[in-house]
Amino acid sequence: MNPVDIAEPLRSRWSPSVFDARHELSDAETTRLLEAAQWAPSSGNRQPWRYIVAPRGSAAHRLLVPRLSRGNSGWVPRASVVFLSVVELGQDGVELSDVLIPTHDVGQASAHLTLQAQAMGLFAHQFGGFDHDGLAADLRIPDTARLLAGIAVGLRGDPAEVSERDAERDHRERRRRPLAETAYAAWGVAWPGLDPSGPATLAT
Ligand SMILES: Cc1cc2nc3c(=O)[nH]c(=O)nc-3n(C[C@H](O)[C@H](O)[C@H](O)COP(=O)(O)O)c2cc1C
Repeated sequence: MNPVDIAEPLRSRWSPSVFDARHELSDAETTRLLEAAQWAPSSGNRQPWRYIVAPRGSAAHRLLVPRLSRGNSGWVPRASVVFLSVVELGQDGVELSDVLIPTHDVGQASAHLTLQAQAMGLFAHQFGGFDHDGLAADLRIPDTARLLAGIAVGLRGDPAEVSERDAERDHRERRRRPLAETAYAAWGVAWPGLDPSGPATLAT
């Protein structure tokens, strides 16, 4: 199928699973990524995002690695830096309605960080497969905040250095469901402006 006609770096972004375990990100590059998140929009400009910055080999990284799910334990530790996103809710006993928008805002800030990485010639792969409670305790994240996801950033590495399973993941076809199942004129009714033959797949 034809690649969709969206702007760079959205178009070329994807989530590799083979990182170069020798590459290091400079503090200046890491800061640039954090600035991309910093300038994301947020409800009431509350900026509820926090990031634990965990360069490979750092104290935070050492706490993360044993908390990774089995599927993530091979590829995540090879990335140059992992950013762990946290939503700061600011008060105890918050209602669900108080959680949704700040969590949305953190996701958006993380998207900006991810796209900044792609624009800088780096790659980012977000992940949620880790022991959230265990890692939050290890990192002393307070009750007013919630640990959400990781963003592994680095350069692509040599597939010969990783397990066959991780190497194969980088060759999976990327698929998306048709836009008609996403864009509605009314709930469940496809927005009629869509091209019915529109692409659902992006080649990597
Ligand atoms: C919040 C979040 C959690 C994710 N968790 C994992 C994960 O635990 N392990 C993993 O390998 N990929 C994880 N992913 C990556 C997705 O699987 C990936 O983005 C999706 O398959 C689409 O592929 P693409 O990013 O290459 O377009 C996660 C992505 C997001 C945004």
